[in-house]
Amino acid sequence: MDKKTVRDIDVKGKKVLVRCDFNVPLDENLQITDNRRVVGALDTIRYLVDQGAKVILCSHLGRPKGEVKKEFSLAPVQKELERLLEKEVKLADDIVGESAKTLTAQMNPGDIVLLENVRFDAREEKNDPEFAKELASLAEIYVNDAFGTAHRAHASTAGVADYLPAVSGFLIEKELKFLGEALNNPQRPFIAILGGKKVSDKIGVIQNLLEKVDTLIIGGAMANTFLKAEGYGIGNSIFEEDKLDLAKELMQKAKDKNVRMMLPVDVKIGKEFDKDTESKVVKVTEVPEDWQIYDIGVETIEMYKGVLDSAKTVMWNGPLGLFEFDQFAIGTKEIAGKLAQLDAVTVIGGGDSAAAVEKMNLADKMTHISTGGGASLEYLEGKVLPGIDCLLDK
Ligand code: 3PG
Repeated sequence: MDKKTVRDIDVKGKKVLVRCDFNVPLDENLQITDNRRVVGALDTIRYLVDQGAKVILCSHLGRPKGEVKKEFSLAPVQKELERLLEKEVKLADDIVGESAKTLTAQMNPGDIVLLENVRFDAREEKNDPEFAKELASLAEIYVNDAFGTAHRAHASTAGVADYLPAVSGFLIEKELKFLGEALNNPQRPFIAILGGKKVSDKIGVIQNLLEKVDTLIIGGAMANTFLKAEGYGIGNSIFEEDKLDLAKELMQKAKDKNVRMMLPVDVKIGKEFDKDTESKVVKVTEVPEDWQIYDIGVETIEMYKGVLDSAKTVMWNGPLGLFEFDQFAIGTKEIAGKLAQLDAVTVIGGGDSAAAVEKMNLADKMTHISTGGGASLEYLEGKVLPGIDCLLDK
């Protein structure tokens, strides 16, 4: 069921509480090192300002565990918002206390107030109804635009919708459009590329994608578990012993569903976990006992690229190798470069693969890069996200 958006509700002159996901990475000087989540919220904020709404923003940042901790203040986000919007954004000292009440009571249409980190109050993550009610009492309408936190049933992401008319912002609308269309109505062939460390993190995603895709490409350390399950020696590589049977089951399921599941045919191996370690490319049948697999090999890269040539929809989640070390980032880089050239819908799940694409300056060559890590994974698993479920149906 489609959800109502800010376009479906009259916000003029109204106080609108907007839940954003401003959970951005900060360096030791509290400088934002990746502002994509702030940028992602701008369309909704600008729209509400233009409509003459009084815009009250809220978000969490990090995991301060219900305590006020200065290093988790939203102050860096306030500054970044002011820079990007070229407009004053007032930061309240609290969430639902005196400062928030006073600042929000004094607002004029078009004004913006940012509340402090909602996780400074332990009631947020407990989805405490009293806290949700207090938050709601600051506003007349609730807009959820925090896609990255939509998998959490917290007071500011879901509970507050019990007390206010609740609609989505443009970011959630966009995320649902691209992730949803790719998943439920893809142009075919539909190819998913899954990487990352653990099969256990992606079980639900693999299960769900096997119902939808034509081809499933596997890379990253996760591939080791599948290779081991297929009977290959993987040397000293990390793998999940307790997931070997599951890996076999998933490969059998792929066969039953007529999904082509592709594993590396060669791999780049290293002697030890070090960025300058000795390395070489070998066939998957030839991984020496004391070496570790850190990337897909050249033949595999070419094989995967060849399959991607015909793709009409590609969904990618998780790096294909140890991307942090340059010599083992080649698979991830080559596949990202390939996606950038394709005449296909390319959807990048959040987290590391999004960061990789961003680092390579290929972001504008992709159809959509999700701002959700855990949230996009749960969405790809086919789960209902509480932050979306709580919104009004169209
Ligand atoms: C994220 O970064 O995935 C979201 O902001 C959610 O954060 P959390 O995992 O601390 O709930």
